[in-house]
Amino acid sequence: VLRLSFRSSERHARVCSVMAEEAKKLAAFAAVDNHVQNNHVVGVGSGSTIVYAVDRLAQRVRQEKLNIVCVPTSFQARQLVLQHGLNLSDLDRHPELDVAIDGADEVDAGLTLIKGGGGCLTQEKIVAGCAKKFIVIADYRKDSVSLGEQWKKGVPVEVVPMAYVPVSRRIERCFGGEAVLRMAVSKAGPVVTDNGNFLLDWKFESPHNWAEVHKDIKMIPGVVETGLFVGMAERAYFGMEDGTVRVRD
Ligand code: 5RP
Repeated sequence: VLRLSFRSSERHARVCSVMAEEAKKLAAFAAVDNHVQNNHVVGVGSGSTIVYAVDRLAQRVRQEKLNIVCVPTSFQARQLVLQHGLNLSDLDRHPELDVAIDGADEVDAGLTLIKGGGGCLTQEKIVAGCAKKFIVIADYRKDSVSLGEQWKKGVPVEVVPMAYVPVSRRIERCFGGEAVLRMAVSKAGPVVTDNGNFLLDWKFESPHNWAEVHKDIKMIPGVVETGLFVGMAERAYFGMEDGTVRVRD
């Protein structure tokens, strides 16, 4: 009986992860189809959902002979762009983007986001901030009324390495909860971002005024950026379990 129930829970987990992948793809394809046009400069986010968006960009470039240029938000995004044979650029050459497309760890009812689960929050925020439109793509598990409902890993905060202890103490003293240094999966050392910094994951205890909290945390010496994206996203596409796409503006 035990073996049977183990197998059925394993099967359930497999089915859920297939559904989530399909949902990511639906959201990514909808965003690329609705927001990318010929001659666009496109910001390419990071994570697993963006992989589907880059697939779709490459398909459309091949099929429709689109001329687009991509500005990546991480080493991963840069590799994706290159692997797909897309035109790679940067903010020196293209400081103004037509659209930036990126995933999120959680999206609330007012389009405030937690990002940085993959540690790329700073470059993601810079690129999104340079875009005329910032579009979010996610599966149904990221859709929340308020932050913290779904995403339990907290708000990522990128910090200069020498400052991680004082910054962590200050966040805990001012806002409660716990700000923990993100360790590599091997536990051999901390995760180091593409910018050479460390990450704190601040596990907050209750909802906050996120615009205020973001501003206050950014004022702490040593903080580079927070994973709170407030007032930046114009629209979110959620791929749903039933194969539809939910849009939030
Ligand atoms: C990386 C990010 C990602 O966009 C976020 O973690 C979502 O990733 P995924 O698409 O794999 O769920 O912010 O820093």
